[in-house]
Amino acid sequence: MRKLVSLLKGPILITGGSGQLGHALADAAQRRGLAYAVVSRPEFDFDVGETIAACISAAKPRLVINAAAYTAVDAAESNATAADGANHTGPAMLAGLCAGAGIPFIHVSTDYVFDGEKGSPYLETDHTYPAGVYGASKRAGELAVLGSGAQAIILRTAWVYSAHGKNFARTMLNAARKTNTLRVVADQKGTPTAAPDLACAILDIAALLELGWKPNYRGVFHATCAGETSWYGFAEAIFAAAAEAGLAPPTLTAIRTGDWPTPAKRPADSRLDCSKLASTFGVKLPAWQVSVPLIVRQLLALDGER
Ligand SMILES: NC(=O)c1ccc[n+]([C@@H]2O[C@H](COP(=O)([O-])OP(=O)(O)OC[C@H]3O[C@@H](n4cnc5c(N)ncnc54)[C@H](OP(=O)(O)O)[C@@H]3O)[C@@H](O)[C@H]2O)c1
Repeated sequence: MRKLVSLLKGPILITGGSGQLGHALADAAQRRGLAYAVVSRPEFDFDVGETIAACISAAKPRLVINAAAYTAVDAAESNATAADGANHTGPAMLAGLCAGAGIPFIHVSTDYVFDGEKGSPYLETDHTYPAGVYGASKRAGELAVLGSGAQAIILRTAWVYSAHGKNFARTMLNAARKTNTLRVVADQKGTPTAAPDLACAILDIAALLELGWKPNYRGVFHATCAGETSWYGFAEAIFAAAAEAGLAPPTLTAIRTGDWPTPAKRPADSRLDCSKLASTFGVKLPAWQVSVPLIVRQLLALDGER
């Protein structure tokens, strides 16, 4: 367990520390001088139940933020048990422990709980209808967390990317090193969300929780960056930023979802309306374009190609 900066009442416990969001949360907590502990596998493993309770007993946290999840959308189609363990039964157990100990719990979910057929940004009250195994496992996790009785805040986010881990931005930049023409899906709408932007929003919520729990905090909130684009539009922004950093941009060709078959069906339009997050917590993430240049520069530096 990585240790900590200041010590108030017990740390904020961040799970999934090796992932994009876990990494960003630890960075942001460190920059803010917060007391935090971050855990990853094998120390914290949803598939090994004892590790969940052991991490809670060892850290005695004042807040748990669950950034651990099975996020391989296509692989989930043939690994439903693993997806269910990490996205449903594991979080249910973690939420149950938080409920028992009176620890507030922030859990992260996904836009993929929707089928993308609505045609306008989804509200938290909209009916969920996951199109694939990943989305179904995340929805089951939401329901279990809400049913646990914990002081639970569930944040649905989307299209997460960062300088760490696997994501669309890294895939695009790596592909552009191998070929100068790329085909990118242009008929799926959503909102790229930089993990550091989401991490800041989560820690802003955590700061409010320090002032006390309010009943209207409990429930589901949509938490993406502002605005919308397609994967094609996101790729254009990535390569515009990469060009500024000296990478020759590839030629992009807009294609349709059907031209790029994948095992999992993805929502065509998974834009999320984030006004409840703003009205409840006063938290609003920046426009999706804001963090693209910084993260692209970090990716180029980390991957050793400028
Ligand atoms: N990525 C996206 O585009 C996206 C979109 C919408 C919502 N979200 C949600 O946002 C949250 C953060 O996603 P992310 O992009 O940061 O994910 P990520 O980079 O894939 O990281 C997932 C983390 O969960 C851990 N993990 C996986 N299976 C586990 C298990 N059985 N037990 C314990 N830990 C396990 C991973 O550990 P290992 O390193 O050991 O595998 C890793 O630390 C998740 O709830 C995800 O569903 C993500």
